[in-house]
Order: sequence, then structure tokens, then C-alpha cells
Amino acid sequence: MARRFGLGVVLALLVVSCGGTRDVDRRTVTLHRTRPGGGPAFTSCRLALTRTEHEILDDNTHETGFNGDDGSSFTLTWVGDGTGVILVLSTISAPIDSYLEGGSSRLYRSMDYGKSFRDVSHRISNTFIRKEFGVTTGPGNSVILTADTPVVDNSGGIIFTSADAGVSFRSVRLPFHLAQPITFHFLNPHYLVVISIDGGLWLSLDFGVNWRKVHDGAHSFMWGAGVTLFFSYSPTGTVEADSRGELLLKRTEDLGLTFTTIAEEIFSFGYIGGFLITSVMDELWTPRVIYVSSDQGNTFNRALLPSASTEQFYSILDGDEDMIFIHVDNPGDTFFGTMYTSDDRGVLYSKSLERHLFGGQRKSDFTNITSLRGVYLTNKLDEDGRIRTVISFNRGGQWRLMGKPDNVECGDVQHCNLHIHGEHSRQSHIVPMLPLSEPSAIGLVIAHGGVGDSLSSTQHPDVFISSDGGYKWRGALEGPHHYSILDSGGLVVAVEAKREGQVKTIKFSTDEGRCWKAYNFTEHPLFFAGLTSEPGTKAMNISVWGYRPEDDEQPMWVAVTIDFKSLLTRQCDDQDYEEWLAHSTPGGDPERNGCVMGYKETYRRLKRSSVCRNGRDYGVRKKQSPCLCTREDYRCDYGYRRRNDSAECVRQPNTADPNPEVCLNGEDEEIQTFGYRKVPSDKCEGGFTPRRMSETIIRPCGAKASEAPPAGQSSSETHFDTPREKMVLILVSAGAGLIVLVAIVSAALTVRRVLYRNR
Ligand SMILES: *[C@@H]1O[C@H](CO)[C@@H](O)[C@H](O)[C@H]1NC(C)=O
Ligand SMILES: *[C@@H]1O[C@H](CO)[C@@H](O)[C@H](O)[C@H]1NC(C)=O
Ligand SMILES: *[C@@H]1O[C@H](CO)[C@@H](O)[C@H](O)[C@H]1NC(C)=O
Ligand SMILES: *[C@@H]1O[C@H](CO)[C@@H](O)[C@H](O)[C@H]1NC(C)=O
Repeated sequence: MARRFGLGVVLALLVVSCGGTRDVDRRTVTLHRTRPGGGPAFTSCRLALTRTEHEILDDNTHETGFNGDDGSSFTLTWVGDGTGVILVLSTISAPIDSYLEGGSSRLYRSMDYGKSFRDVSHRISNTFIRKEFGVTTGPGNSVILTADTPVVDNSGGIIFTSADAGVSFRSVRLPFHLAQPITFHFLNPHYLVVISIDGGLWLSLDFGVNWRKVHDGAHSFMWGAGVTLFFSYSPTGTVEADSRGELLLKRTEDLGLTFTTIAEEIFSFGYIGGFLITSVMDELWTPRVIYVSSDQGNTFNRALLPSASTEQFYSILDGDEDMIFIHVDNPGDTFFGTMYTSDDRGVLYSKSLERHLFGGQRKSDFTNITSLRGVYLTNKLDEDGRIRTVISFNRGGQWRLMGKPDNVECGDVQHCNLHIHGEHSRQSHIVPMLPLSEPSAIGLVIAHGGVGDSLSSTQHPDVFISSDGGYKWRGALEGPHHYSILDSGGLVVAVEAKREGQVKTIKFSTDEGRCWKAYNFTEHPLFFAGLTSEPGTKAMNISVWGYRPEDDEQPMWVAVTIDFKSLLTRQCDDQDYEEWLAHSTPGGDPERNGCVMGYKETYRRLKRSSVCRNGRDYGVRKKQSPCLCTREDYRCDYGYRRRNDSAECVRQPNTADPNPEVCLNGEDEEIQTFGYRKVPSDKCEGGFTPRRMSETIIRPCGAKASEAPPAGQSSSETHFDTPREKMVLILVSAGAGLIVLVAIVSAALTVRRVLYRNR
């Protein structure tokens, strides 16, 4: 798999004191009080900094002040991979006034991981750069700044492109105005795509020098495999929300020279992990359904999922080459729905989790624990109205509550489980950060949570850490913190999140959060704005961003960068590492211990007691070995179902199939079956093999998916009778790789008979 070029993490640092009000979502589900206020639930180990350590850190701490006419917002962007280059852009909120005053955005550049900055505003001709999508980074050292130009006829917008991480910029006058940030191709920084404010789809093949309009009426686009580009457009040329549902989906495989229409009358589409997904209203007044293609749009199959009425929505939670996690909303404002997992074609779905929380701002708490294969965490809204955290260690196969952290006392509470705060809590400002895990820091998970019967909003959240991918947790820090993983997990740093107060202390741990040391990085406390380090966890430099109120009205922005490299002087050697069998339980069956999806993995990882440096050359090392198959590695084939008391699949000749199959080529299918089918992407070997005589079964086609059992919900078509307001799907990209199909309200209803056909 190609590396994502996710190095352009943009952090908008907003001055809270500059008139900004916090916008708390009133539709968020309220959390329940579980523990009356109480004191600390656990104690964690604190160590004092030695005098030498203090001196070393003092010598390796650098502070930069950003002064002058700098504005209300700072945007910070890492450029390139391991270059240490940071671009900082300051923008002011009211550029129009400042045009007259001759002001401009300021651009600063650091080449040493934030230790020092130079004002390079002259490289962008002292122009105003847009506050929203002002800076976009691409693969390699490419970066694009978008000027904040007034929309005037006959002249387009201005961008500044740099292929050398901001050393030099080229100014380009575009033949159009941008409606959105420019999108890079994920591998080739020369290929740029964007939609203009009048709905044109524009393509550049030379890093922005020349632009070509390839289509009109464009609604959205996404890169597929290779240089395949998908885009939806409105045949009438309008890009109004009420033309949703009549969009066409086109594909170009030669960068805009020729096009193929691959789907019609769609609401929205997404491309994730090799799956092209569309939502379609098949027939007039019927609920939307999902079609999936795993061959770049040549053929589509209808996903066997409950259909969604106009007031419901689908949300793709995550997906990769092997499968998709999808959330189907319940009708009504229930704040929950059902989560499904797909097979390897994205077509057949199994119910994974019911009552999956999906609240106010159409966000879920679904979290991929990227530091251990197969682990996902999310929150459900139980019937008693409480939110509880569940974790799955086998890719959504089973979900369970989490146990009590070892060092936490529960007192006389009856149910004592750890519950984790996700996106909902972050949006309600209950926690400052989401759970954090990184593929390079095997097993490490840092998250805010609390123990008790359910997630609580009154109990202040504490920081918990797991070293084994979420099986066991420990209370690590009291109260909410900002945290970051450095040196591939060898170092964890945290700064306390004080809502009103100022900070001057950074805490760090070299043993995955067991023991913490605190270092005062400044004498003059800062109003904290953000913690940043180079993306990818290899860094040992961390920058604390904030501002200090000055006597005159403008605050002074400050970056304090601390280099921990000289504190961890020793490079780790062989003795510092140990072998660790992932997913293993002590005393587990040696044959099956650690098996997930048919194989186990043994990692070489840093011992917790080792105080040393993984270094920049560190890479995760692991050994894989296949597990013996069991019945759990199989699904029941068509016409078979599990015996209710075992994993055995038994023939069900005459009963309606609980998992009706899909007709993949539109014809009745004769299948030879042993009754079992290996779970897609399961890698088990030997062990259980279906032994029964093979049978031939006719799988009838034409079993419409509408006959499939809806997941405990009726897709009530009556809502279409009074279509004063219609919910339609739009596709928004919400952060790294996450695609959300969101329902929005639009005024008019125009649904025509769908011309869509399976190819
Ligand atoms: C979860 O994260 C891992 C590690 O980044 C990634 O390989 C995997 O594809 C993700 N899973 C899904 C379903 O997106
Ligand atoms: C660091 O700052 C805190 C809070 O002001 C103070 O209590 C502590 O003594 C300081 N530590 C050192 C080593 O100066
Ligand atoms: C920290 O920054 C310095 C530059 O000041 C750089 O030489 C060093 O490689 C950085 N260390 C890490 C681990 O990122
Ligand atoms: C399955 O469950 C039903 C009722 O729960 C029971 O009557 C039946 O005997 C069970 N079947 C098997 C094969 O155990």
C-alpha cells in the first residue's frame, strides 16, 4: 500500500480571547452522572526531575515569539517527510479592511522542527492567504497556498505553489475561483484536481501551472486506484443541493481525456479502501440503497443492507482492502443505529453492533485502534439511555465492555468498567483530544475515560493508557490532557488541559505512562493552544503552542519547542527489546492464543523498563504465523445456518435464509457447497475442514434485497408522501480517510425514475 501523504497536519490555533465563543452542540446526547464528583480514582507514579535532566532540557528548549500585526488565527503545517520543515501562517479575520491598510498574512518557516522561525512573507509577495484551506500539502515536499482574492469577473484566484517545502514559491493566476482546497493525487504531486465556484472540474498535470476544465456541473470527486478519477455531476449543470439524487457518476482513467458514465441517479458516492460506494434511489418513492463496486466501477452490486428512508442516513465508518464498517441510522432522532461489517466484496453485510451511538453532529465514536490489528472501539447508547464503551478485538466480530484498570479503585460501585470518550465528548468540550494510537507504537493506546457503570460527563475525565492494544488499561494522568506519542512510542508527553488557566509544564513518560516526570518549560505561563510534533511519531521534538496576553491589545503567539533527544542519550540495543505475542492472554491455549482472523503476530518491541532511543531508523518488526482453522473461521454458506448452540452449520432446506445471498451476476446460481465458507481474508490453515459431502444448491436470484430482513427497523415509505422536507445524502470528507455520508435537509423533492442498471 502506498503511504498516505498525511504529513500535512494542519492545526488551526484559534485565539479564544479574540471574541470567539464556544459553540456547544445542544443536540448531543447528555452523559449521565455515575460517580458523585469524587477525588482521584487512582494514583500514578510521579518522579522528580533530576538537576541534570533539568539542565539538559533547559538547554534543549527553544522559544519563538510571533509578534507584530499578526492576526487572530495561526495555521501550522508540517511539510515533507522528516524534513523538519514547518510553515506557520497567520491570518487576520477581516482582510478587506486590512487590504486598505496594506496589511498581509505573515508566513513563517522553520527548518529545525520548530526551534527557530524565519519570516518568509516576501516569498508570497506579502499577500493575504485564505484562513480556511489556505495551506495544502501534498506528497513529497509540495505545498500550495491559496490567496484570499476577491471574486472579480474575468480574473481567477491566485495560488502559490512550492515543490521544495516552501523554500521558493511560484505564483499562479488561476482561470477560475476555487470552491474548495486543491486535492493532490496521493502519489504524484503534479496531478491536482479542484472544483471551481461555478461547478467546473479542473485538472492540472504540471503542479498547477496549466489548468484544464474537464467537466461542468461537478459535485464531488475522488481519486480511485492508479490515476482513476471519479466524479459526480449534475446533468443540468446546477450544483444545488436539491438536484441530489439525480447526479451521474463518471470515471476517467486517462486524466480527463475520455470518460465513462458508471452510475446514474446517485445521491452520493465514496471511495474507500478499494471500494467504490454509491447511494441510489432505485425506484421512485423508495428508500435509498447502497451499491458497491470493487473493480473501479465496472460492475456494481447492491449491498445487502437495510435500505434507508429519506430521514435516515448511511455512514461509512472505516474501510480497507478487506472490508467496510458501515453505520445505518435508525429512523427518527434516536441517536443510534446499527453497525454492519462487510465481506471482501463489500456486498454481504453482517450485523456487528446494535444501538451504535451516532449523535447530534452526525459523528460517531468509532475508533480504529491503529496500534493493533483488528481492534476497534466505539460507544453504544443502551436502552437505559446510558453510553457505554465497547471494544472489539476481531474486526467487529464480537464487542465487549472493558474491564477495570488495574490501578483504579472502584469503591462500592456495582458495575466498574472503563468507558472511553470519543468524538461526541470532544465536540462537547468534555475532553480536548480523541483516543490516540499509532501503527509504529505497537499496542499503545492513550485515551480519556472514566470508570463506572457508563460514560459520565460530570466526573472529570482522566487519561488512561493501554500497552496491549486495549485489553488492559491503567490510569495514567488525572484530569484532561493533550498528549502525543514520540520516538515510536518510546516517549509519551502530555500537557494538562486547563480550560481557563495558563500552562508551563510538560509531563513525559518513558515507560508507556506508568511513571511521569514534569518539566517547567517556561517561566511565563502560556494560554495553551496546541501540541504539535512531526506526524508519524518518529520525532523527539515537541512544540507547545500558545499565546501570552500583552499590554497592547494583540496577544503574542509563542511556540516552545523541546528536544528530548539529549535526555534519551542511549540508542536502544537488542537487550532493550522483547518478543510480544499480540492478542495473547496469559495461560491461553498455546494453539489458539493470539489468533485473530486466522493468524498470529509476534512483535519485537521495546521493554517497558528500557530507557533508550528507538531513533529515526526504527521500524516495526513482526513475525506472522498461521493458526489452525476452527469453525469460527468459517461462515455458513447459502442454505445453511449455525446451530443455535454451536458454530456448526446445518442445512436449512425450506426456511427463509436469514442471510439471503446476493445474485452477483444477476442469474440464479448453482453452487457446490460443503455448507461452510471461509471468512474473507481469514488466513487460517489446516485444522477444521468442512467434511460433510458437498451438495449442489440452486441459489435463486431475484430475491430482492427489499425482502431482506431490515435490521429491526422499517423503512417507512410514508415519509415520502409529505415531502416538504427531504433529507438527502452528501458526502463530506472528515479528516484522514474517514468518509461520512451525511444527511442534510433540502427544500425540494425531485426524484425521477432511476435509470441505474447493474452492469
Ligand atoms: C485500521 O488501521 C490500520 C492501521 O492503520 C489499517 O491498516 C486498517 O486498514 C484500518 N482498518 C480499517 C477497517 O480501516
Ligand atoms: C514547576 O511549576 C509548578 C507550578 O508553578 C511548581 O509548583 C513547581 O515547583 C515547578 N517546578 C520546578 C522544578 O520549578
Ligand atoms: C529534533 O530537531 C533537531 C533540529 O534542531 C533535529 O536535528 C533532530 O533530528 C530532531 N530530532 C528528532 C528525533 O526529530
Ligand atoms: C435451539 O433453540 C431452541 C429454543 O431456544 C431449542 O428448542 C432447540 O432445541 C435448539 N436447537 C438445538 C439444535 O440445540
